Amino acid sequence: MRPQMILAGNWKMNGLTADLEEVTRLAATTAEMAGEVGIVICPPATLLSRVSDVLKPAGMASGGQNCHIAVKGAHTGDISAQMLKDAGATYVIIGHSERRTDHGETDGRVRTKAELTMSEGLVPIICVGETLKERENGVAITVVEHQLTGSVPAADKGADIVIAYEPVWAIGTGRVPTNQDIADMHKAIRTWLEAHYGSKGSDIAILYGGSLKPDNADEILAVENVNGGLVGGASLKAEDFSKIIAAGQRVQTIRRAAAT
Ligand code: PGA
Repeated sequence: MRPQMILAGNWKMNGLTADLEEVTRLAATTAEMAGEVGIVICPPATLLSRVSDVLKPAGMASGGQNCHIAVKGAHTGDISAQMLKDAGATYVIIGHSERRTDHGETDGRVRTKAELTMSEGLVPIICVGETLKERENGVAITVVEHQLTGSVPAADKGADIVIAYEPVWAIGTGRVPTNQDIADMHKAIRTWLEAHYGSKGSDIAILYGGSLKPDNADEILAVENVNGGLVGGASLKAEDFSKIIAAGQRVQTIRRAAAT
């Protein structure tokens, strides 16, 4: 079975009450696509429950951007997986490169968080990706395989995860890898997942992230083994994000037709 196309917006540290209008607009413009493709917004924690209230009735989902490795307790300023779930989240982004860099998150912590979120019934979107230097040195695939080995939960914890391949140098820069480089990386990730999970590894969505925009979405989302996108800047405006979602739906329709 081919994974469902998922388009997830990562708002990062952006979004105030006034921006809820964008969510309402998105829900209105993309409602008819919601059953076909998975539509997710990961707002800042302050907006999570209000965003969930708008998205859920429209058949869309919300997610957190991080969670603590502990279930609860004395961790001032942190947020737990259970709290995200309580606020309406279905997904949690784990191990985004900005958190790996800004907060020194190691692969081991990423795996612990991913396992915790799964035990709370949330789906972790586990992020991996190489730096520019690693790409230039020709070790991008080795680096990502190493991150997968360290970050992905043990197979006996279940395969209800999503992987996001986000080359660090493509995030927020307007630069994207070639389609061939994306195809090679996503194939390597698929091969790794199938070795780790067996046949269940074929059903895991592998998202591409890094400067995904309305004008490159059709091309990138159509690359083999790309099952959606993790979208930063272009997810902040309903007009842009809905175009990326529509591109995802077009690709999904073509793939379904080809499979029958
Ligand atoms: P970008 O961010 O789309 O703004 O490049 C992607 C991400 O960091 O998830």
